[in-house]
Amino acid sequence: MTNAQKWVSLFLGLFIVLFILGRLTKSEEEFDENFDYYEETDSNAEKPDGLSLMNTIGCVSCHGADLKGTGLGPSLYTAKEYWGRQRLIAYLRNPSAYDGDERFDSYKSQYKSIMPSYSNIDVEKLGIIADYILSLEGK
Ligand code: HEC
Repeated sequence: MTNAQKWVSLFLGLFIVLFILGRLTKSEEEFDENFDYYEETDSNAEKPDGLSLMNTIGCVSCHGADLKGTGLGPSLYTAKEYWGRQRLIAYLRNPSAYDGDERFDSYKSQYKSIMPSYSNIDVEKLGIIADYILSLEGK
């Protein structure tokens, strides 16, 4: 064998070894068709419901866990008599713009706190909350 022939066979041997190694490692990372890639991004994922949003935001600390009022805020069961959906959302975003009503005068003497404004909360969430408040039945 000449020197050139030795080099050629060395490279050929190396090439074959690398080729086989490449085959072996590739088979391990093949696409797993049984794996559910869509599980985490289900578009039907549940929307938050009104009451749990009100718990998270803290409405219940003044209006009560049952929303029937505390010394800090009135019951929300009568709200549907005064509010439509859009006005209620607007009220939640800026309550002080709506305190002309005489109902609010008596609220002021009755409750030791004021209704905070929630303009920092996503309007879609306020809509879910408004729907929930307007759906409350009973006293
Ligand atoms: C710091 C206490 C406090 C918190 C927290 C609070 N409220 Fe109020 N809320 C009040 C008070 C007090 C009033 C009575 C009006 C006033 O004095 O401004 C009121 C009034 C209301 C009214 C009008 C009731 C009516 O009879 O028209 C609604 C609706 C309402 N709150 C919903 C909410 C929602 C929804 C949240 C949470 C996103 C919330 N409140 C958080 C204290 C609070």
